[in-house]
Amino acid sequence: MPRSLALRIATLPRDTNHYGTIFGGIILAYIDQAGFVQARKHGAHRWVTASLDRVDFKAPVHLGDIINLYTTTIREGTKSVTIAVEVEAERFTTGNCVPVTSAQIVLVSVNETGTPIPFRSPPTVRE
Ligand SMILES: CC(C)(COP(=O)(O)OP(=O)(O)OC[C@H]1O[C@@H](n2cnc3c(N)ncnc32)[C@H](O)[C@@H]1OP(=O)(O)O)[C@@H](O)C(=O)NCCC(=O)NCCS
Repeated sequence: MPRSLALRIATLPRDTNHYGTIFGGIILAYIDQAGFVQARKHGAHRWVTASLDRVDFKAPVHLGDIINLYTTTIREGTKSVTIAVEVEAERFTTGNCVPVTSAQIVLVSVNETGTPIPFRSPPTVRE
C-alpha cells in the first residue's frame, strides 16, 4: 500500500502546554489514531495497538500549525501490521512543512473477546 495522508489536524489552545507549543502526548495520540486508520484498510476488524517504538521530537509544533500524519504499511504479518507514521507541522505563518517526528506502530486484529485473529479473514465488525 502506498504512503497516504491518514490525518490532518488543526491545532487548538486546548492542545498546548504553558509555553504555547503542542504537548508531545497529543501527537502520540494522533500517531495512534493514524496507525488505526491505516490498519483498518487491511481488514474490517477491531484493531488494538500492541507497540509504539521510540519517538524523537525534532521540532516543536506551534499553536495554529496544521499537523499532517502520513502512514505506510511496512510489514504485513498474519494477525498484525507494522505501520510507519511520519508527522509534519504545516506552519501557521508560512505554510511551510517541517518534519516533527516519525514512529513505527504495530496493530493487531482481534475478535470481540480480544483474541488475535488473521486480518485477512472476513469482516468481524458490522453495524
Ligand atoms: C496486543 C495483544 C492483542 C497481543 O495478544 P497476544 O496473545 O500476545 O498475541 P499473539 O502472541 O497471538 O500475536 C499476535 C500478533 O501480534 C503480534 N504482537 C503481539 N504482541 C506484540 C508486541 N508487543 N509488539 C509487536 N507485535 C506484537 C505478534 O507478533 C503477532 O503478529 P503476526 O500474527 O502478524 O505474526 C494483547 O497483548 C493485548 O490485548 N494488548 C492490549 C492492547 C490494547 O489494549 N492496546 C491499547 C492501549 S492500552
